[in-house]
Parts: sequence; C-alpha cells; structure tokens
Amino acid sequence: MWYPGHIAKTKRAIKDNIKAVSAVIELVDSRIPYSSRAYEYASLFRDKKKIIIFNKYDICEIEKTKKWIKIYENKGYIVKTVSLKSINIKNFLKKNIANEIPEKFNERRALVVGAPNVGKSTFINSLKGKKTTSVGNTPGITRGVQWINVDSKTKIMDTPGILFPELYNKSIAYKLILAGCLKAEDDEADDAAFFAFDYLKENNPKILENSVENGSKLENAYEFIENFAKKRNFLKKGGIGDYQRGLKTWLKEISDGKLGRITYEIPDEYEEIKV
Ligand code: GTP
Repeated sequence: MWYPGHIAKTKRAIKDNIKAVSAVIELVDSRIPYSSRAYEYASLFRDKKKIIIFNKYDICEIEKTKKWIKIYENKGYIVKTVSLKSINIKNFLKKNIANEIPEKFNERRALVVGAPNVGKSTFINSLKGKKTTSVGNTPGITRGVQWINVDSKTKIMDTPGILFPELYNKSIAYKLILAGCLKAEDDEADDAAFFAFDYLKENNPKILENSVENGSKLENAYEFIENFAKKRNFLKKGGIGDYQRGLKTWLKEISDGKLGRITYEIPDEYEEIKV
C-alpha cells in the first residue's frame, strides 16, 4: 500500500497552528463522504467549530450524498456543498462560511484540512494572489505562518493540512483510489477497478453500459475493461482490447468524474459513524 511519508510532519504543523484558529474547515469528497473523512484527527479539533465542505458536488449522486449531509448536521457540523472548481471561492466564503467562524481577538481565523485530492489547493490557490498578511501580534499565532484575507476580519491559513484517512478495511482503500485520494500500488489498481465494477453493476449500471459498445455483456470486470479499451481503440494484436491501458484510463476517468455522477457510500450501510 502506498502511503505518503510525511504524516508526522503534517500532524505537527496542524498541532502548532490549531491554537490560532477557532474553526476547522474540512474538505470532503462528496462521492465518499465516509472514507474521505480523517477520523484520526478528530481529537485535535475537539474545541473548534467544525465546518465540512462537501466538494466535487458536481460529480456525486446528489440524493445519496444528501443523506450524509443530514447525518453530519445532526452531529453538530456546519455543512456546505460546493464545486470549488467552478465558483468564486472568496465570495462563497464571505457568503456561506465567514459568519460561522467564531470571533477570537476580534478576528475569525480558520484552518483548511482534508485528504489528498479533495480540493485543498484549488481552495487555497484561488484565494491567494490576493494579499496575504503575515503574523501580527495576535496571541497563539505561530511565527511565519501566512494568512489569506477573506474580509476585514476573516483569515484562512495559507497552508492546508493534509489529513490521511484511516485504511482499516480494503473497501475504504479502494474507494480512496477511485476518488484519486490514494495511489494504487501493484494489484490495487485491478482490485479497485473490480470493486467499482461490482458496485456499479449493482447500483449504477448506466455508467458501465456507457463505457463500452452497445450490447456488450457486463459479465465480469476483466472483460469489461477489455471492452472499454476496445471502444477507445486501445487495441492489441488481433483486435483485442488492451486491458492495461484500458484499466489506467478507466480509473483516471472515474476519479475525474468524467464517466458520470457516482456516490460510493450510503449511510444505511455504515453501522457506526465515528465523528
Ligand atoms: P493534494 O495536493 O494531493 O493534497 O490535493 P488537493 O486536496 O490540494 O486537491 P486539488 O485542489 O489539487 O484538486 C485535485 C483535483 O480535483 C484537481 O484535478 C482539481 O481540478 C479537481 N477538483 C477540485 N475541485 C473540484 C470540483 O469541485 N469538481 C471537480 N469535478 N473536480 C474538482
């Protein structure tokens, strides 16, 4: 399993800076509202106002994702849905988020956190380029940290915290691979694609049907990927679909949301929602 090596460093940075903020904005992938949460860090944020932004709302199945929103709202989170890629993020923050951040020393400071690939850079980079402010003498603020001004009171820390979801079962790892949050190693690409095939066959067969020529059978994942490759004209000798190239392309398009809206998780199937 591939796992980034700088977990301890990220954790340290969050710990150092958490004192300065009164709210934590957690970005979540709307397609995996359970698996892209970073439960491990919950205790760090205990005293903070928690705001969850369900990003990539443009590529999720809204009805399924909405059930998660209710669950998190019932747990006391402020929840917003958005497609960060296609909005003015500063206006979105001013309108929907700024007022939710509790004031401390006459300022509203928040930290952005989230799993890899959920949209943290999209969020921060679109805010940057506007003026950032350096450290003032506000108590509790680490030297050298830059802040992005949203309005005269509201400031977002300019470096997001990467949070790593817990991989306590294989299906979580597969869903993270399918959403682009985790890189597949060795056989994991096949396993994740086979997992997606089974899930979609049961829950969203249109996505599979649209990936292959009309009338192709959807018997097993291996043949499905070969047929997908064939449709894309990725051919091996004898006109057979090139499985490896098909696999790579299909997974990439699935994770980019190019093949249609998918939400992989429905709350009824989860016995315990931890945080
Ligand atoms: P790491 O640097 O790996 O931690 O990722 P990140 O959390 O900074 O994510 P980033 O902003 O780089 O976005 C990851 C991918 O998701 C990019 O290809 C974005 O274009 C895409 N993306 C971001 N927001 C949206 C969105 O609202 N909808 C869709 N469809 N794609 C999005």
